[in-house]
This record gives sequence, C-alpha cells and structure tokens, in this order.
Amino acid sequence: MKTYHIITYGCQMNEHDSENIAGILEAMDYEYCDDPFKADVVVMNTCSVREHADKRFFGMLGQFKVRKKEPGDFIMCVCGCMPQQPVIQEKIRKQFSWVDIVFGTQTIGDFARLLNDRVRTGRHQFSIMANNPALPEEGNGKRLHEYKALVNITYGCNNFCTYCIVPYTRGREKSRSMEDIVTEIRGLAADGVKEVMLLGQNVNSFRDANGNGFPTLIRAVNGIDGIERIRFMTSHPKDLSEELIACFRDCEHLCKHIHLPVQAGSDRVLKRMNRHYDRARYLDVVRRLREACPEIAISTDIIVGFPGETEEDFEDTLSLVREVRYDSAFTFIYSPREGTPAASFEDQIPEDVKHARFERLVDAVNEISLEKNALYQGKVCDVLVEGRSKKDDATYSGRTDTFKLVNFRAGCDVVGETVAVRITDSKTFSLEGELA
Ligand code: SAH
Ligand code: SF4
Ligand code: F3S
Repeated sequence: MKTYHIITYGCQMNEHDSENIAGILEAMDYEYCDDPFKADVVVMNTCSVREHADKRFFGMLGQFKVRKKEPGDFIMCVCGCMPQQPVIQEKIRKQFSWVDIVFGTQTIGDFARLLNDRVRTGRHQFSIMANNPALPEEGNGKRLHEYKALVNITYGCNNFCTYCIVPYTRGREKSRSMEDIVTEIRGLAADGVKEVMLLGQNVNSFRDANGNGFPTLIRAVNGIDGIERIRFMTSHPKDLSEELIACFRDCEHLCKHIHLPVQAGSDRVLKRMNRHYDRARYLDVVRRLREACPEIAISTDIIVGFPGETEEDFEDTLSLVREVRYDSAFTFIYSPREGTPAASFEDQIPEDVKHARFERLVDAVNEISLEKNALYQGKVCDVLVEGRSKKDDATYSGRTDTFKLVNFRAGCDVVGETVAVRITDSKTFSLEGELA
C-alpha cells in the first residue's frame, strides 16, 4: 500500500484543508505514515502570513530533494497559501523544479485528478486559481480530532487590512449555505463530535443566498442534538452585531469565549491598517459582550511595529491591553508582505525597535493572563477532555467552556467526555486540576 504524510503550517483553515486533503488521499487508498521521510506522497500545506512562515517552508521543502534520488516513485506536493502568490509559484518552478504537484487554496478539489495524472504520466502538475467561484466539497475529510471538528462557513476575505496577504491568497469572500452547514454538523454529531469550530476569516460577515446571517446560523447549530459546544473564529470587531451578542446570552451551547483581534490600540494605526473601527468602538463592543455574558473570556491578536507606529501609538496598545484585560493574546511583530499596501509604506520601523516593543507587550499580556487564570483556583469547571499526556498516561488535558487548557489526573480513560474538574493551580497558559 502507498503511504502519505501531510505537513501543515498556518491557521485553522489550513488545518481543515489538510483534513480534506487526507480524506481525498484515503479515498484513493493511500495510508497515513507518521514519518514524512518514509511516505510515498508528501503534501506541504503552506502559510504566507508572515515572513517566518516562508522561511520555514523553503527550509523544510529543501530537505525532501534527496528523496527524489532514492528508489521508488516519491511524489512531492505543495499547496496552500504560498503558491497562490505568482512570485512564489515562479520560485517553486525554477528553484524547486523537482516538486511534482502544486495546487492552491481554491483547487483542492483537483488534487485527486492531479495525483492520478502524475502517477500515470510522470509529468508535473499545476492547478492554481485566484478566485474559483465554486465552493469546495466538504464533509469527506479525515478529522484530526475525534470529538471536535472544524467546519468552514465562509471562504476568502474582502477586508484588505493593509498588512495582510490573506485576501490575495484566499480570494473573495464566499458563504456556504446554512442548510449545507447544518447538514454537515448533523452528520458530525451522529459520528460522535461534541464540539464544532465554525471557521471563516470574518465569520460576522457570513450571509448565505437565502439571507441567513451569522447569528441565525449559531441559533440553528445550537439546536442540533449532540453538539455540546460551539466555537467560532475569527470575528472582526467592525461588524460584530447586537444579535451576535444576544446569542451569548441565549444559546446554551455557545462557548463563553470570543477571539476578537484588535491589532492595535491607537486610532491612527487602526486607520492605516484599514480596520474600520476605532479604539472607542472596540472597547464598546467588549463592554456589551461582558454585559451580556459576564464570564466571557476574550482573546485577541496584536501586531507591533506596524509602519509609522510611534512610541505613543505603542503605549496606546499597552493601555488598551490593560483596559480590556485579555485572557490571552497572540502577539506578532509586523512582517511586510509583498503586494500588500503596508509593505510599501515609507515609515517602516527598525527591527530592534519592533523587538523591544514586542517584549514589553508580551510581558504585559502574560502578567494579565496569569492574574486572570488565578481567578479559576478553587472553581469547578466542566472540561471536555481532548487527550492524554504522551509522557504519563494518567494525565489528561482538555478545555473549559472559556477555552482554558486544563491538565488533570484521572484513574480511568475519560477522553471525549465532559468531566467536572476542580482547579488547584494556575499558570500563564494553563490550569491544573483534579477530578471533582
Ligand atoms: N482573519 C483574521 C486574521 C487572520 S491572520 C482576522 O482578521 O482577525 C491572523 C493574524 O495574523 C492577524 O490577526 C494578525 O494579527 C496577524 N497578521 C496578519 N498579517 C500580518 C503581518 N503582515 N505581520 C504580522 N502579523 C500579521
Ligand atoms: Fe487579513 Fe484583515 Fe482579512 Fe483578517 S480581516 S484575513 S487580518 S485582511
Ligand atoms: Fe496563513 Fe493562509 Fe491561514 S496565509 S494564516 S494559511 S489563510
């Protein structure tokens, strides 16, 4: 039997695309192989959101070249966001001409044909589309996790934040139909899935051909038997509606957690980022969310060193972090992406200044995360158990409704169950507990 291995970089959309790619390979009778250097087919699903991701990709890709000299018919595939960019496509064709198959974020449905053609003819295969009007097929993927599933609700992005490459790699925004999504989730529930993560670059702008919006979709999913937890990602502050806030009050299965990327705390920077909200409006959304759901955990994404960011602008970001008191935050150093407006802004920030600000931001964020997590000590939380520790098989880990990672010990196998855990200790990124 022929085997495959998939290496995935980037966000949860890519993770889910990899699940679909695995589904295609298994339907073609390929078997999963743990070791990328032994598999007959290797797929690298790439990300181009920051330069670091580019570098890691090319470094890793280079390591597979030797396999072409080994006996057997090793097949190397590259897909995801990198080859969506014409310059990268060129680079792969020229410097990595031994790569067999290249496809994009919008041509995953072609993969079976490409692979068959490559096996049959030995010839290289390319399939990239910038804006495929057809929606990909969903529901035949191979899930990474047994009890939780990633479910696409929108594809692409229309927001064009000035720093971001995603609208260029994923194309224009498209929504699936609510009916298709609900049918898929019913099937997942029947297959034992308890938690769904609804995915889109901006789920708030979900609107299907029948006019159903995101809050309507959440209420529909909330009514599906067997689904205990609903999460979504990512929600853009500019169009977070009052109806969505009401869902946090009314929908018992909607988790009390929202990821609400702020990016910066200075109005001047937010404007230059093309985010379409200001600090006051963001803070108002946070206030209304907490009014509707006092226990809600809030996390965010922040970029430091955006072109033109002054010390004062940066301090506005720090003060916003202290005002909101995030449960957690992903912090990024601004990375210029070729083809995006901000990459050609003239006032780029020197690397040492970016790094110094980054360190200060991380310290502020971590201090607050630690304080927030300390509030959990002594509480009993429902934890959906996701796995067992590799080092010690009596230690389990799972998440609270508020997305806190909890490690605890149990005498019997509780993976996939929701159990009550008493929190005994807290750290910056996780909680410790015991079965209650
Ligand atoms: N659609 C999501 C974000 C997807 S990208 C949203 O709008 O919230 C994930 C995060 O990467 C972004 O929120 C941003 O903080 C960060 N990011 C995107 N482009 C970046 C760049 N050029 N440099 C540094 N960080 C970036
Ligand atoms: Fe990028 Fe902005 Fe779209 Fe998010 S909303 S994917 S940050 S352009
Ligand atoms: Fe990366 Fe593409 Fe996601 S650039 S963050 S994999 S949409």
